[in-house]
Amino acid sequence: MKSLRQRIVLLLILAIVTVVGLATFAASRVLQPPPQDDRIERLARQLLVLVAFIDSDPQAARAAGLKVQDRAVTDGFQDRMMSDRLSLALHNAGSTAQAQITLQDQPHRAVVSLYLGPERWLVTELNDGGPPPGGWMVLAGWGVLIVIGATCVSIFAAAKIIRPLQLLQDAVGRVGPDGTLPHIAETGSGEIRATAQAINRLSARLKTAMESRMRLVAAAGHDLRTPMTRMRLRAEFIADDADRQKWLSDLEELDQIADSAIRLVREEVNGDRAEEVELDAMICELVEELQLLGHPVSLGEHDNVIVSAAPLALKRALRNLIINAATHGGGATVELRRDGSNAVVSISDEGPGIPERLIEQVFEPFFRVDAGRRKAVPGAGLGLAIAREIFERFGGTITIANRKPHGLEQTITLLRA
Ligand SMILES: Nc1ncnc2c1ncn2[C@@H]1O[C@H](COP(=O)(O)OP(=O)(O)OP(=O)(O)O)[C@@H](O)[C@H]1O
Ligand SMILES: [Mg+2]
Repeated sequence: MKSLRQRIVLLLILAIVTVVGLATFAASRVLQPPPQDDRIERLARQLLVLVAFIDSDPQAARAAGLKVQDRAVTDGFQDRMMSDRLSLALHNAGSTAQAQITLQDQPHRAVVSLYLGPERWLVTELNDGGPPPGGWMVLAGWGVLIVIGATCVSIFAAAKIIRPLQLLQDAVGRVGPDGTLPHIAETGSGEIRATAQAINRLSARLKTAMESRMRLVAAAGHDLRTPMTRMRLRAEFIADDADRQKWLSDLEELDQIADSAIRLVREEVNGDRAEEVELDAMICELVEELQLLGHPVSLGEHDNVIVSAAPLALKRALRNLIINAATHGGGATVELRRDGSNAVVSISDEGPGIPERLIEQVFEPFFRVDAGRRKAVPGAGLGLAIAREIFERFGGTITIANRKPHGLEQTITLLRA
């Protein structure tokens, strides 16, 4: 039982059923019939009143339903002990009449036969005040009703109790690609309003923090350009050829990093309009373009699929991934297939892959797996961050996984238009 809601429901049901069960038990104790001796004495007195009534006015007694017959009732079980106790009680009350109690088939029903004289027996039914017939069924029904009632009340109460948490969960589940939470209506009870207000405050702060981070990155990328141009000019005057080349290639890498940083910021704040894009045509075009640039890229099976995205941004994202497979992975194979309402692009290579423990980190800006590879494949460590930003903006996802025995597979899922 993992969910908090289920635990609260179960706890409330247990609490309610226990309390009602205990209350029922206590009530049944308090409402016990009087002790048996008292009842027997009362019965003896009542019988004597009936006998007196019959003696004084037999006709009225018959009209009232009192039965006098020539023999005692014999069918049923003779309860000797109770019969003796009743006879004793009659004796104590000043009568010499003998009584016989016969238990009937039905529970808690008995018949008293009281000897009045030769061939004269007063026969009257006796109800000992026990629970009505079918008592267990009634008790079971009562129990079922309590459990059903307790379940309904508990589900309702649990929903109310965890409403603020639900609100939080829903809000976090709807976090946009820019990391901000959707606005939540600040209505409802005190706690719910407070939760909604706290989430909205958090969202506003996150938005401000994101925006200032973006501005900072963009400004740094931009401002680096001027000193870098000056450095490049100075580097051109370095006399030693090898030394100059090193300076220029380092400056080139720095330039790329600044460029990518500005591009990442642009992607995050960009609001490019989505339109229908023929994904298969775009991928064919990209593969050709990269092949012309000398990248080892090949095209596998590709279905006709149309997706909804901003074409330039989508192309940039796919280009980043294919270049990764071609450079870090030594050669890319691109495939595109339709899968229900999705378009699935798979970009695979047979390179070294990425250590499992780092696989989620590669989406972080400026993260590069291996500093040693830096020289072989220059880059800023922003390609994957930019690509994910773009796919998520258009409702898509990207996952990467190592292949067996080696290599990497990058899978992009986009909604078909
Ligand atoms: N197909 C791949 N095979 C092996 N490692 C990869 C692959 N794709 C990405 N990586 C690793 O993930 C890191 C991050 O990739 P990412 O594209 O974000 O940055 P980059 O390629 O280093 O630089 P940039 O794309 O900004 O020029 C890479 O540095 C590389 O170590
Ligand atoms: Mg890259």
